[in-house]
Amino acid sequence: MNSAGGFRLGILGSGTGSNFVAIADACASGVIPARVSVVISDVEGAGILDRARERGLPSRFIAPGKFRTKLDDVAEQAFVEALQQAEVDLVVLAGFMRILKGAFLRTFENRVVNIHPSLLPAFPGTASWKQAIDHGAKVTGCTVHFVDQGVDSGPIIAQQTVPVREDDSPESLHARIHAAEHALYPRCIAAIARGEVRIEGRRVRVKGAD
Ligand code: GAR
Repeated sequence: MNSAGGFRLGILGSGTGSNFVAIADACASGVIPARVSVVISDVEGAGILDRARERGLPSRFIAPGKFRTKLDDVAEQAFVEALQQAEVDLVVLAGFMRILKGAFLRTFENRVVNIHPSLLPAFPGTASWKQAIDHGAKVTGCTVHFVDQGVDSGPIIAQQTVPVREDDSPESLHARIHAAEHALYPRCIAAIARGEVRIEGRRVRVKGAD
């Protein structure tokens, strides 16, 4: 952790930023013993940047480069530098829709977390709520995990189940998953900030979780 100023979060997002709002509010109310030191988006004009600005939090767009699903080397370096300048202790992916690889993950080893809208390892990738309906799953949910070199494959910190209803549309199911995410993600980040989370190979031990 940084010696001065307490535990710092760097948030990356590409979308509306509802998870970011839940996290920022939990920091402001003291539920998460940390502060948001920077919010970065790969999408110019993304809602998450507006939500950050409304809260007076430092935010910026960084162009992702020429690829569709990952950052190019120049962009990756710009993301790393911005996060280092903000002295972040933990990188929090909140709807960040690009895969992070090599140099980025080496720089922030075991310090990048993600929320995914399914019970991993089921339904990795995109539109997981739609995948759950198309598959006929009766239960889905959300997963908070550390990010490793794979896609949605890192060690799992916590999961929350969400029922799939007969009459669910992709939108109604995603709304229910979103509500579960807004409770689960701040709880996990608070536990990490308090030093209560330990990685042991594939297993993640969370103090007081049993
Ligand atoms: C969330 O449902 C999150 O789980 C998902 O994007 C949404 C972002 O919503 N992330 C992924 O699918 C990552 N593969 P938000 O911008 O309102 O927080």
